[in-house]
Amino acid sequence: MDKEILKELVLPRHIGFIMDGNGRWAQKRNLERSEGHKAGAQAFRRICDYASELGIEAVTFYAFSTENWKRPQKEVDAIMNLFREFLEEAQQRSDENEERGVSIRFIGDKSVLAPDLQALFERCEKQTSSKNRTIVNLAVNYGGRAEIVRAAKRLAEKVAAGEIEPDGITEQSISEELYTAGQPDPDLIIRPGGENRISNFLIWQSAYSEFLFTQTLWPDFYEKDLDEAIIEFCKRNRRFGGI
Ligand code: FPP
Repeated sequence: MDKEILKELVLPRHIGFIMDGNGRWAQKRNLERSEGHKAGAQAFRRICDYASELGIEAVTFYAFSTENWKRPQKEVDAIMNLFREFLEEAQQRSDENEERGVSIRFIGDKSVLAPDLQALFERCEKQTSSKNRTIVNLAVNYGGRAEIVRAAKRLAEKVAAGEIEPDGITEQSISEELYTAGQPDPDLIIRPGGENRISNFLIWQSAYSEFLFTQTLWPDFYEKDLDEAIIEFCKRNRRFGGI
């Protein structure tokens, strides 16, 4: 993005991405679906780098939903291997991440992932936890409803333990039990791939988000597409229910 234009804009603090269209991208090229995910992982890397370059505070990527386990085992394995590759690479690039101030966080239910993958996620989170220029949330085995159920259970436990009163449950206290606790809610959610739905992504946090649905397939999503999305976001007048 042109530096002069950038200076004029009030950037979204948090952007969510639903990375859709990998399968169709591969199909169009007569490639296996896993090749589409590989290209999707490249798009993820470049958009992460670009978002941190722009100074966006938080970006969340929907990488694997609680429903995605229904896919053929071969495809699930291929996606899990891409996570492994990315986390191993992030470890090797830790100096670079340090410099860029990127903190990587896992959001979702880790417990059913392969133990080595859980350990990789934990190590990567720990290694980058003190960074605060850009938080990169990777949503894996994530579902928005499951996240709210988890928050409700955690609050119920606090009530049962006498730590809080039922009246102490507020929108704020629910937000604080979500995976994204302490982060701004997403200002903008981008879904490439031609579908116009939210698919259980950040459903609590997106109450006032702007949505942008585009036809571009995720592997074809480049820096210029993020520029266009940000400019479109800046043109919209957000009223948060006011007038
Ligand atoms: C949806 O497209 C995409 C997924 C279910 C997987 C997304 C995963 C990646 C982009 C790889 C992530 C890797 C890292 C390192 C974060 P689809 O397969 O449903 O596409 P289709 O609708 O065209 O079939």
